[in-house]
Amino acid sequence: MSEPQNIYQGPERVFSGVQPTGNLHLGNYLGAIRKFVALQNEMECIFCVVDMHAITQWQDPKELRAQTLEIAAAYVAAGIDPEKAVIFHQSAVSGHAELAWIFNCVARMGWLNRMTQFKDKAGKDKERASVGLFVYPSLMAADILLYKATHVPVGEDQKQHLELTRDIATKFNNEFDAGPFFPLPEPLIKGAGARVMSLRDGSSKMSKSDPSDLSRINLTDDADTIAKKIKKARTDPEPLPETMAGLEGRLEAENLISIYAALSDRTSEDVLTEYAGQGFGVFKPALAELAVEKLSPITAEMRKLQADPAFLETILKTGAARAEAIATPVLDDVKRIVGFL
Ligand code: TYM
Repeated sequence: MSEPQNIYQGPERVFSGVQPTGNLHLGNYLGAIRKFVALQNEMECIFCVVDMHAITQWQDPKELRAQTLEIAAAYVAAGIDPEKAVIFHQSAVSGHAELAWIFNCVARMGWLNRMTQFKDKAGKDKERASVGLFVYPSLMAADILLYKATHVPVGEDQKQHLELTRDIATKFNNEFDAGPFFPLPEPLIKGAGARVMSLRDGSSKMSKSDPSDLSRINLTDDADTIAKKIKKARTDPEPLPETMAGLEGRLEAENLISIYAALSDRTSEDVLTEYAGQGFGVFKPALAELAVEKLSPITAEMRKLQADPAFLETILKTGAARAEAIATPVLDDVKRIVGFL
């Protein structure tokens, strides 16, 4: 679709979300949550626990409740201030479902058929995938556009969904002659940590659903477990090169270097300058120490917060009321534009 000029004039606003599907990991932290923390001081921010997205694949109800609170705990433990940013769970604001339905009628089958995440998640037997999994991206577009969000911090794996969101916004604006009613939200992807790879296979991304727990560092892992996983991470016998070009074809090594860079707010080149010529016998313990230093305070704070579910529920409830107040006038306008009585 051709890209029209984005002449949206509304305020800048950030929206993003994380699914409460368990095994929250370093990729989620570096690719998303850490960026949320930085953005809350720059713009109005809304951070959602997307429980409705989670049920596109089977979730045990009891686990889903616990995992929803776990994401809320992770947001706060990582440094998101619930007084500043809005933190809430998706199912508490019914506008997400209502707008998603309208977007199901705007998006085209062909667009959704191209989504690689559906293909990955549905696997070989597409006939058995839920319909919800197929229309997952229209719900995601609804999440963002219900708040007329202009900026969306995500990891690289969400890029295609963000492009679809822009296509839906464009088609809605054009077809209903609504002018620049919806913004064309900008993905905030760049930077170290946008694509953290599995510790067991440098060609696949670190993922909540990888059956091997050794493939990822969970935000709930203790210091010993983090160190053990890094020690066992797949690497090669070569020493580290001086430049990134020297890492060509060494996917696992490149991944560990970029994790180190992301955690220490340095560039990969800078990290290589320090460790050039060293083997993994030296580099891995340094990385483990850094990972423990950065992650342990978050893990400890998450545990503390999770011990007080009532506190977390209050944060979510208060956040939902704030979210609803922003969403309601937008949804009212959408209904009018569409022609609902
Ligand atoms: P989810 O729950 O899979 O992941 C949450 C965030 O973590 C990022 N991420 C990664 N970043 C770097 N390396 C990785 N290995 C890695 N794995 C995951 C994801 O890109 C994401 O930013 N569809 C979204 C949730 C969602 C959403 C939204 C996001 C629903 N509605 C609206 C933004 C705006 C998802 O499944 O994220």
